[in-house]
Amino acid sequence: MTERTNEGAGEEKLDVAGLLDGEVTWTLLGTLYLRAWESRAPRSILSDHYAAEALARIDHDFSAFERRLRPRSNQYLVALRARGLDDWGAAFLARHPDATVLQLGCGLDSRMLRLAPPPGVRWFDLDMPDVIAVRRRLYPEHDGYRLIAASVTDSGWLDQVPADRATLIVAEGLLPYLAPDEVRRLLQRLTGHFTTGELIFDALAPWLARLGKPFRWGIRDAREIERWNPHLKCLAQVPFTTHATLIPSRRYRTLYRLGDRIPFWRTMSQNFRFTWPA
Ligand SMILES: C[S@@+](CC[C@H](N)C(=O)[O-])C[C@H]1O[C@@H](n2cnc3c(N)ncnc32)[C@H](O)[C@@H]1O
Repeated sequence: MTERTNEGAGEEKLDVAGLLDGEVTWTLLGTLYLRAWESRAPRSILSDHYAAEALARIDHDFSAFERRLRPRSNQYLVALRARGLDDWGAAFLARHPDATVLQLGCGLDSRMLRLAPPPGVRWFDLDMPDVIAVRRRLYPEHDGYRLIAASVTDSGWLDQVPADRATLIVAEGLLPYLAPDEVRRLLQRLTGHFTTGELIFDALAPWLARLGKPFRWGIRDAREIERWNPHLKCLAQVPFTTHATLIPSRRYRTLYRLGDRIPFWRTMSQNFRFTWPA
C-alpha cells in the first residue's frame, strides 16, 4: 500500500473541550488515545502513527485518560478490533478499486489514511456535527474524500452518498451506542439504498448492553441480524480474542488465549462481516 500523508491539515492546536462533555463523543478520544498508545509498541498490531500525530495536535491534558482507560491492557482490544476491520476493508478495496466507502461514527479515526485506497475510491466519513467540525481541521476534505455532519439516525444524509458502486460500510465503535430499533432501521436503510457491498462493524455482547449507559445494543450471533434483515448474509463473526497471536506482550497474549476458550469472555466484543444482496 502506498504511504499517505495528511497533507492539507494545518498545524494549529485543536480544541476538543466540547467533545469531552458529551456522553458518547468523548469515547472517540479514548479510542484515539489507545491507538496512539499502541502504535508505540515494538511490534505494534495496528501501527496507527496517524493517531499519535492527531493526539499531538489536540489541546488537552490526557493524563486522566491513562487512569480511566488503562491503556496497558485495553490497547490490545482496540488495536485488534481495528486491525480486523482494516484487513476486511483492504480485501474489499483490492477487489473493488473504484468502490464507495462509507464510514459511520468515524470520530477522529485515520482508517482512510491507513488503508490508502486506490485513487478511484470515493470515501465518505460521517459523524455528529460537533465531531465533524474538529475532524475537518484534522483531516480536510479533498478530491474523493467527503465529510458528512449528521446523526446516523437522521433521515436525509444518505442522499449525499451515491449508490452506483460496490460499497464498503464500516461502523467501528458505533452500533453499541444506538437503540436496537435504530440499529435495525439503519441497516434496513443502508441495504435499501446501496445495491451491493459489504458491511463491517464491531458489536458488544447483549449482557454488556443490558448493563446500561452508554451502551444500548448488543448481539451474540450474526444470525439474529439475518433474521430481521434478509438482504444481509454473514461472511464472518470474529471474537476479539481470535487473533491473540498478534499481541506482542506475552502476558496479555496468554490472557487473551485463555479468554478465547471461554464463550462468555470471547463474545464480549466481536467483529462482524456481512454482504448483500444475500
Ligand atoms: C467509540 S467512538 C468511535 C470512533 C471511531 N470509529 C474510532 O474507532 O475511533 C463512537 C463514535 O460514534 C459517534 N456516534 C455516536 N452516536 C452517533 C450517531 N447517532 N450518529 C453519528 N455518529 C455517532 C460518536 O460521535 C463517536 O465519534
